[in-house]
Amino acid sequence: MGLRVIKVGNYQELSDMAAQFVKSQVLLQPRSVLGLATGMTPLGLYQRLVEMHRQDGLSFRETVAYNLDEFLGVSPDNPVSYYNYMWTNFFGHIDIPEENAHIPPCNPADAHAAARDYEQQVVQTGVNLQVLGIGANGHIGFNEPADQLMEETHVTDLKEETIESNRKLLAQTAGGDNYHIPQRALTMGMGTILKADRILLLANGAGKKSIVGRMLTENINTHLPATFLKVHRDVTVLLDEEAAPDWL
Ligand code: F6R
Repeated sequence: MGLRVIKVGNYQELSDMAAQFVKSQVLLQPRSVLGLATGMTPLGLYQRLVEMHRQDGLSFRETVAYNLDEFLGVSPDNPVSYYNYMWTNFFGHIDIPEENAHIPPCNPADAHAAARDYEQQVVQTGVNLQVLGIGANGHIGFNEPADQLMEETHVTDLKEETIESNRKLLAQTAGGDNYHIPQRALTMGMGTILKADRILLLANGAGKKSIVGRMLTENINTHLPATFLKVHRDVTVLLDEEAAPDWL
């Protein structure tokens, strides 16, 4: 147990294996609670799961999902929102009941109260399998590198590099490059994430190679939030060839 690393050949294989992982979780425990991520990395995973739902009848009828994070100050139907991402890429194509698909609110009257509320819901329900990506700066969810990390779900100011990579993501997933990317987000905290029973971290592409190498070799430190995954008892890091350090 602890942290295990699996290297596969390419993004297709990574997406297939991640989908098998989620599939076995949902089959063995239909009432599974999944923690879900957005971004470029899990797009292939969601696509495979949608295929498994359509072709093999994989059902999410009893599954519960909690997303890691959401931008603040956008409306849900804005292409920028993670609400839009999740419904466009995954929830809208499977049979998960709408009331089971939780995403932090993007326009709450009181963002701090919404964060406390989300934290309570996630922790009370308990996540069985948390899917994660990793930022090129080592962030997990929107827990950005800093002198201190927050334990619980909270409001956060995004780093400039995160805003830029979100802009690129939107250009690819929603088309156009003129989006106003919000500067603030609501995110599960490192403690919230580490409470999950199992964690599956996905990383693909050459752009992640250096941070993945650092995550695996550096001591736990708040300037590389992903290093905190090393304290968890059941983490699988799934890499494609390009994202894997040469020594792996
Ligand atoms: C998304 C999230 C982020 C991303 C990370 C990697 O919900 O929490 O931490 O997982 O920024 O993004 P991609 O996959 O676009 O490289």
